[in-house]
Amino acid sequence: MRCAIYPGSFDPVTNGHLDVIERARKLFDEVVVAVAGNDEKQPLFSLKERLDLLRETAGSIDNVRVAQFKGLLVDFAKAEDAGALIRGLRAVSDFEFEFQMALMNRKLDAAVETIFLMPKEEYTYLSSRIVKEIARLGGDVSSFVPACVAKALAKKFAK
Ligand code: PNS
Repeated sequence: MRCAIYPGSFDPVTNGHLDVIERARKLFDEVVVAVAGNDEKQPLFSLKERLDLLRETAGSIDNVRVAQFKGLLVDFAKAEDAGALIRGLRAVSDFEFEFQMALMNRKLDAAVETIFLMPKEEYTYLSSRIVKEIARLGGDVSSFVPACVAKALAKKFAK
């Protein structure tokens, strides 16, 4: 069975992430969407909230599983017997960081391959960070995120 890990902060999950999940699940028998639990970033949503939102939006998709991981990504991939890491690549600006991370992960475990998938063009400009900023400033994010995420953002930023 070919398993891939799609890791990230998912703070929160966006339509761009869901597009990548859809693409990845056509290429692999199983895709584990892995939410980082020990990132140094200060997330808006707790680990549990991020997992719940992902489960609500992607948890019932065939051959997709939502999980959390702590520690090194390559160790999690090994424990899941996954041969690939999926990362979305939107624009050239993503490339430097993604390239560094892919090569570092290869150095840590040469058996795990990083595969970049490009989301639909209309999601090229989309990021969790920008969605949070728009929501914080009272803008409409309903076309960027699933309905449950828009609702959760509205709740977070309710005055
Ligand atoms: O959605 P993000 O924030 O771009 O995801 C980054 C993430 C969580 C994939 C990355 O920070 C990560 O893999 N963290 C786990 C710790 C690790 O393995 N670090 C070494 C990677 S080179």
